[in-house]
Amino acid sequence: MNVILDVDTGVDDAMALLLAARSPDVNLLGVTCVMGNVELKKVVPNTLKVLEVAGRTDVPVARGMNQPLNEKQYNAKGVHGDDGMGNLGLPPAQRQEEPVHAVEFLRRTLMESPEPITLIPLAPLTNIAVLLLQHPEVLPKIKQLYIMGGAIGMGNASATAEFNVRQDPEAADIVFRSGLPILMYGLEVFRQVTFTRAEAQSFIESGKPAAKLAGQLLTFFMDNFNRDAAGIGDGGCVASFIDPAGLTIESYPVRVELTGTWTRGQTVVDRRPAITAQRESAWQPPMNTMIDVAVDIEADRYRDIFRRAILG
Ligand code: BDR
Ligand code: CA
Repeated sequence: MNVILDVDTGVDDAMALLLAARSPDVNLLGVTCVMGNVELKKVVPNTLKVLEVAGRTDVPVARGMNQPLNEKQYNAKGVHGDDGMGNLGLPPAQRQEEPVHAVEFLRRTLMESPEPITLIPLAPLTNIAVLLLQHPEVLPKIKQLYIMGGAIGMGNASATAEFNVRQDPEAADIVFRSGLPILMYGLEVFRQVTFTRAEAQSFIESGKPAAKLAGQLLTFFMDNFNRDAAGIGDGGCVASFIDPAGLTIESYPVRVELTGTWTRGQTVVDRRPAITAQRESAWQPPMNTMIDVAVDIEADRYRDIFRRAILG
């Protein structure tokens, strides 16, 4: 399966990278970087380091947008640590990123591919929105946008908004209205694929570099949140892409709230029966989107996929 990951590495982006880089089912054509969990100047070296640990220095990495379209950059260092990678002090990577902007890398890779490619954005959607705005010719070349972002209910960045969408709501709005096939892997499923402290410790002691890094990152998350379990987050999104049968998916109109004081960045998922929406049409214009939303997940299935990839 040909894919490109778009990341803001990021503790859980690191886990997604380890999985995609080591899974025999994924042909990782490249990784594009965008600001998000930390500033772009940290995201790029973090991404290169993780791919080096995964033994995949062949995978091209490209530097993308370093600001949201129309929002202040807040980042999420309280969650991921000042360096974005749990302050583990990993050695610098031996190589540099590609000498091309991420948006151009995406355009070129898509246009040169004989087959449409799936993009897996695990970060604010700035790179993807700029790609769609500047290069609409790529639309037929995108097989699917398999997005970690949004929530049906409770948010994390705010009461109602998920971080990736809240950090760049205008970009998310452009992407959600693009008409492309979208899978929304939101917070309801994102939170569920977890490992315990004992499992993390067994990864650290495995003698495998990818597993050791995953174990250290999971342990950082547990310490940071004072818990005895932690999720692989974006890693679960990639696992579900590899094996979609463990997701329960329902299709709904979804729009991104751009203006609400308390709700900016919320993904408003219209779960009303179509007949109710029609009868109440005076209150809300048609959303004109139909998005596949992940509503439930077989977490154990994805724990296994992750475990096999990092230990294999
Ligand atoms: C998302 O935000 C980031 O902090 C994580 O890397 C993940 O992509 C979860 O809301
Ligand atoms: Ca992320």
